[in-house]
Amino acid sequence: MINPWSSSDFFDYERLKKEFGIEEMNYNFDNFLFRRHLILGQRSIDYIDYALKNSLKFNVMTGLMPSGEMHLGNKSAIDQVIFFQKLGGRVSIAVADLESYSTRGISLEKARNVAIEKYILNYIAMGLEPCEIYFQSKNSDVQFLAYMLGNRTNMNELRSLYGFTDTHDLLHINSPLIQAADVLHTQMKKYGGPAPTIVPVGFDQDPHIRLMRDLSKRMRIFNIQYDRDLIVSVRGKDDPKEFIDLAYDYLSKTYTNVKKDYEYRVVRCEGVSEGDLVKIDLDLANIESKYNDFTFVPPSATYQKLMKGLKGGKMSSSVPDSLISLNDDPKEAKRKIMSGMTGGRDTEEEQRRLGGEPEKCPIFDLYNYEIEDDKYVKEVYEDCKNGRRMCGFCKREIAEKMSSWLSELSKKREEAREKLSLYIHE
Ligand code: TRP
Repeated sequence: MINPWSSSDFFDYERLKKEFGIEEMNYNFDNFLFRRHLILGQRSIDYIDYALKNSLKFNVMTGLMPSGEMHLGNKSAIDQVIFFQKLGGRVSIAVADLESYSTRGISLEKARNVAIEKYILNYIAMGLEPCEIYFQSKNSDVQFLAYMLGNRTNMNELRSLYGFTDTHDLLHINSPLIQAADVLHTQMKKYGGPAPTIVPVGFDQDPHIRLMRDLSKRMRIFNIQYDRDLIVSVRGKDDPKEFIDLAYDYLSKTYTNVKKDYEYRVVRCEGVSEGDLVKIDLDLANIESKYNDFTFVPPSATYQKLMKGLKGGKMSSSVPDSLISLNDDPKEAKRKIMSGMTGGRDTEEEQRRLGGEPEKCPIFDLYNYEIEDDKYVKEVYEDCKNGRRMCGFCKREIAEKMSSWLSELSKKREEAREKLSLYIHE
């Protein structure tokens, strides 16, 4: 089980992927986070690929937990949001103030202040273009949807996903439904209807992703299954004849061998290749959305590798010296980098002879996650491996780069304040 509310240490990514069915990240987006395999896994990224290749609208969704600091460890999700926004994605961002209230006891007022000062101003300073940022506590569409989603899950499921027990309070138990609603509400009619939706997350958020993907299917009238033949099952208490006919008519336009079965409430179709499933699901969702306000296609997710903290372990708010916050004073950031751990050897002689270990090095992670130039980062890696580059040199170099980036960012943050109303519409 993965507990999204604990600040646990590193995950064994490969084991998690196997155990929970997270797929390899095998799409080559033109972005260094993907090129360098810092994004390790995905779920149904083929929906996003399909939207991009066919110039269809798609959503980009994330949420921020308004506690602690925005630091480099949680920055790469926003880097991805900005990347997908540039590709044409429509961005929504939830301030998870209900979640932070229910799971960490943070007041709504404090959450608002932290969200704006420590997170949203940085997002804008980093280059996020105008989009929709909202507070869970103020969004009645999200709250209403969370309520409706509650009709499609039960305590057994939540217990096995999250380890909830009888003593967990109901707000905490409700928070995964709020998060599912954050993501799914972007597909409600009022927000443009069903559309592929990408959610960049860390592995700790996977229980939420599994739950919202399942819920999206449970809200549907049409569900597709594929076992060499396509099977569309039609859900609903009322007589489903009309919907069976709709699915049958749609499939008959493209395929010759389509059969409908009123008794078993299915339409079967032969000769469908696996590559056509995304298109079929999206087409059926569009047909369905005329009748069902809650027609969602399963949201897609990308899973990023956690950045190493400067003290070893993960970069985490609970260890202040482990992290570089985007709000850090540049001098302070320099100090933390200079006193950080490295993947270096005990002596200089040894390092020249054996080379360093960049894969274990938090300082190299700073290059890897923050410097876009592939050629340069590769050079740093190889020079380290070959014993040509010493830790002191790396530290001074990256400390310089990070501190000038931070002082740029703090200037842009002040300009960002003027633009807040283009993001928070209330
Ligand atoms: N639970 C997330 C966190 O702890 C925040 C969050 C709320 C979120 N709603 C979301 C993340 C929707 C992704 C999508 O950081």
